[in-house]
Amino acid sequence: MEKRPNWTSKYAFIVTAIGSAVGLGNIWRFPYIMGQNGGAIFLIVYILLISTICFIPLMNELYIGKLTKKECVGAYESINRNFKYLGALNPITGILIASFYFIVGGWIINYIFKSFFINKIQNYGQYFSDFIQNPVYPCILTLLFLFICIFYTAKGVTKGIERVNKILMPLFAIILIFLVIISLRLPNANLGLEYMFKPDFSKLNTHMILAALGQAFFTLSIGMGALLTYGSYIKEDKSLVRSVYTIILSDTTFALLAGIMIFPAVFAFGLEPNSGAGLVFVTIPKIFSQIPHGNIISFAFFILLFCAAVTSGISILEAPCATFIERFKTSRIKACCIIFGMVSIIAIPATLSFGVLGDLKVFGKTIFDFLDFLTSNIMLPMNTLFLCLISGWYLKIKGKNILNNKIMAFLFDTGLKYIVPIALICLIFMGLN
Ligand code: PFF
Repeated sequence: MEKRPNWTSKYAFIVTAIGSAVGLGNIWRFPYIMGQNGGAIFLIVYILLISTICFIPLMNELYIGKLTKKECVGAYESINRNFKYLGALNPITGILIASFYFIVGGWIINYIFKSFFINKIQNYGQYFSDFIQNPVYPCILTLLFLFICIFYTAKGVTKGIERVNKILMPLFAIILIFLVIISLRLPNANLGLEYMFKPDFSKLNTHMILAALGQAFFTLSIGMGALLTYGSYIKEDKSLVRSVYTIILSDTTFALLAGIMIFPAVFAFGLEPNSGAGLVFVTIPKIFSQIPHGNIISFAFFILLFCAAVTSGISILEAPCATFIERFKTSRIKACCIIFGMVSIIAIPATLSFGVLGDLKVFGKTIFDFLDFLTSNIMLPMNTLFLCLISGWYLKIKGKNILNNKIMAFLFDTGLKYIVPIALICLIFMGLN
């Protein structure tokens, strides 16, 4: 079994944690959820929530990892032996998330190559639906994407995970800024900015507030032990507060830039901002086909998505991987092979659920939709709820030991014990309805 690793520097930890947070959630999910929930007003609520309520569970998860220095099951077990079953829900959630997240990773690989022929496609909606219904290519690409992520996870924390993040995150930032500039120079770009920044208060409602909260938790990677595991690799003397602020600020900035890249382009071409999950795979390629050098820009865009998906994908795999290594005393390579097998077994039917297995329903949903629903709406908030309750009520963690500001410490304690659990219970109920 490998020796427990540590991040080589504080920068390495922060870049990797940002790499986990910034993913498909920012570039694929955030713009379309915002598009479906009224634009600017959603953004205001989202920023309010992510900078206040979300600070607490994010801090808590990293803190428990750093405190216990164990993977998820061991961390919960070291608090109370019986909690280990709750801890085990984290790597299980990770394997289930991987099984649908990596399918989108596979689609991205297809679009990277397709970029060169982007203007040859006649009907973008038709192309996308034909592609995802194909019984062969999407499966191969899902496995390819999984293989890429597991390969770097297998290389280890410093040589694999850290290194990939240190290369891909700056590349991601450069491509994103380049694409934002191109988008802002399109005619009528101001309509997109207006949509993003001019709020219509009549669109404010509870459903939208909870959607913003759910999106904030998902994008910060809270609730499946990825951050707990990353936190467990932090050296003793490092303070967490600044890191947590940096993660939240960077994640929000990247989500905003993704919006600024996408909405002006959508409005410039008179398209609908609320086209849902197809926004990135149907609306955006359509735009690329109509602008000069569209295939190069499309290539850059999907490479951007690829970088974001790989760094988050690796973090999704690291939590179950660390659990296998430490619980079953296996080598990292063996753990990665087992996880590859487990994710594949669930991901293949999920990939096929867009086509040949489309009629197979779990609680009235296709396999892909069910995995997305189960993890994003139920398991992530539930795991976060358990961890907040354990820290607030059982461990009685005190804000004053983590934060050096009295008011912040008070808000942290109240949030951990009452506000965040209540918000999470509402989120779970909304998910169930
Ligand atoms: N935060 C990632 C994103 O925004 O795409 C998704 C994610 C990664 C969720 C890791 C949960 C997780 F543990």
